[in-house]
Amino acid sequence: MPLDIYDKLMMLAKRRGFIYPSFEIYGGSAGFYDYGPLGSRLKQNIENLWRKFYILKDNCLEISTPTVTLFEVLKASGHVEEFTDLTVDCKKCKQSFKVEEIIEEKDSIENTIDKDNIKCPNCRSKLMNPYPVNLMFSTKIGFGKSRDAFLRPETAQGIFIDFHLLYRYNREKLPFGVIQIGKGYRNEVSPRQGIIRLREFSMAEAEIFFDPKDKNHQNFDLVKNKELYLYDNKKEKKYSLEKAVNDKIINNQALAYYMHLTHEFLIAAGVDQKKFRFRKHDKNELAHYAEECWDAELYSERFGWIECVGIADRSAYDLKSHIKKSGTDMYATRKYDKPRIVKNKKIIPKMDELGPLFKKKAGEIKIILENMEVKKLDKISVKIDGKTIEIPKTCYNVIEKKEKQTGEKFIPHVIEPSYGIDRILYCILEHNFIETRKKDEEYRILKLNPIISPIKVAVLPLINDNDLSKIAKEIDLSLRNSGIETYYDEGGTIGRRYARMDEIGTPFCITVDHDSLEDNSITIRDRDTTNQVRIKINDIINVILNRISS
Ligand code: ATP
Ligand code: GLY
Repeated sequence: MPLDIYDKLMMLAKRRGFIYPSFEIYGGSAGFYDYGPLGSRLKQNIENLWRKFYILKDNCLEISTPTVTLFEVLKASGHVEEFTDLTVDCKKCKQSFKVEEIIEEKDSIENTIDKDNIKCPNCRSKLMNPYPVNLMFSTKIGFGKSRDAFLRPETAQGIFIDFHLLYRYNREKLPFGVIQIGKGYRNEVSPRQGIIRLREFSMAEAEIFFDPKDKNHQNFDLVKNKELYLYDNKKEKKYSLEKAVNDKIINNQALAYYMHLTHEFLIAAGVDQKKFRFRKHDKNELAHYAEECWDAELYSERFGWIECVGIADRSAYDLKSHIKKSGTDMYATRKYDKPRIVKNKKIIPKMDELGPLFKKKAGEIKIILENMEVKKLDKISVKIDGKTIEIPKTCYNVIEKKEKQTGEKFIPHVIEPSYGIDRILYCILEHNFIETRKKDEEYRILKLNPIISPIKVAVLPLINDNDLSKIAKEIDLSLRNSGIETYYDEGGTIGRRYARMDEIGTPFCITVDHDSLEDNSITIRDRDTTNQVRIKINDIINVILNRISS
């Protein structure tokens, strides 16, 4: 079989230090890849560009939370019950497959497998009955009296469980966004697609907290006329953001705004506009926490359309669950225009009574009681996990108070853009990989946007000569001291050295020649046009900084 673009790219990636299969000397393990020296730089540059969009443009706050996450957190978030993939095993070769990947129609999966007599994609034998598997890696914290935990399947939960602290940090104002970049872990059933489906991968997530009565974005007006390709119900159409929101194709301004930001970021990072679309989730494919979700999909010649970013409206789902399970006050306050005097009956829970009686549930009951509207006083009951629990009168006092209320409490809603950095990185490589022939040899160019290229400038003395090397090394050092990544190379013909740089996506090559000794100038070669211009050595840093920042 001839090599396809994926094979060629992965060969280049391994040879030139972008991506290596992990644990290779021990046979490797599907779903794990290392980033080599160039891959690590590239990935960091993509992440830092993402930060520019979310921290500088959108004013989000960045935090960093543990990847090992307590069982209780992921129980409350619904991942323990819901974070599953329907899986099917082959009787003969014992391989497992994600059902979604081997059948088209997701309704009534058991019937489909039986009726269509779908065979094992590997050995064509009969498949067994499908069953759900939870994708989280479980672990224990400590020894002896240890606590159950998981490696986090998303970075988002670390943000949700800090909401009350972040709300205070933000001086109790909404909306505000919090971001986190870090590893996520999923024990994928069949990771057979390189860095598209990893078991340990990098996520960049933003959780934007809104008042549900005002899911607008303050900058929406600035972008409302921008257009996006929206693929919904098997139809693709170009819409302005404003029309998409007005026609309820996208449910609210905030969601539309973050779709636009995602589009801007991906194009700035070097994704091909023609291989980009947004696809709306059908109701039956929504994650357990989502009310609406749009995927930014990028096209790959090997894999077809790949979900690279999921932008979901998670409503109040997560905060509500964590309030309920942890008993922590994670409400926000909506200020009234004028304070209101209200007569209020309030329940004051008595923890010394609730504690011994309800043990672990006492905290949750306390929060419910404190936030309960008191109507009838003879019987007070709360509902926990679907069960109604009557609370004895000894566990609380009821007081009536005239209160000046300045606002009302509510649970914020969340819009979440969730980016898979590895998938984006792969698609950027694929979209910018060009293969031609030069002098009867294959010639490869990675047309990476300078802003994300791992090396910005190569510094090359034209020939191996002490005087030229001296100047070249001085230029190299001054570029590095100005924060510009360089690669110094004096080995081989100049043509070979250009080729090495084109192949790893270096946008500029500086050549020092004998004239440089006389005129204090060098030649800059542009990777994409191969044009060469001569500039003064003193101007190099400004010229390069200018070109790599746009
Ligand atoms: P898929 O349907 O492909 O499994 P998903 O719907 O489970 O993806 P999300 O849960 O929305 O993905 O995760 C958010 C983002 O994280 C995705 O858009 C994707 O870019 C990335 N991602 C998810 N799973 C993986 C994985 N196994 N390997 C690499 N990136 C992933
Ligand atoms: N945080 C989004 C996801 O894991 O799907």
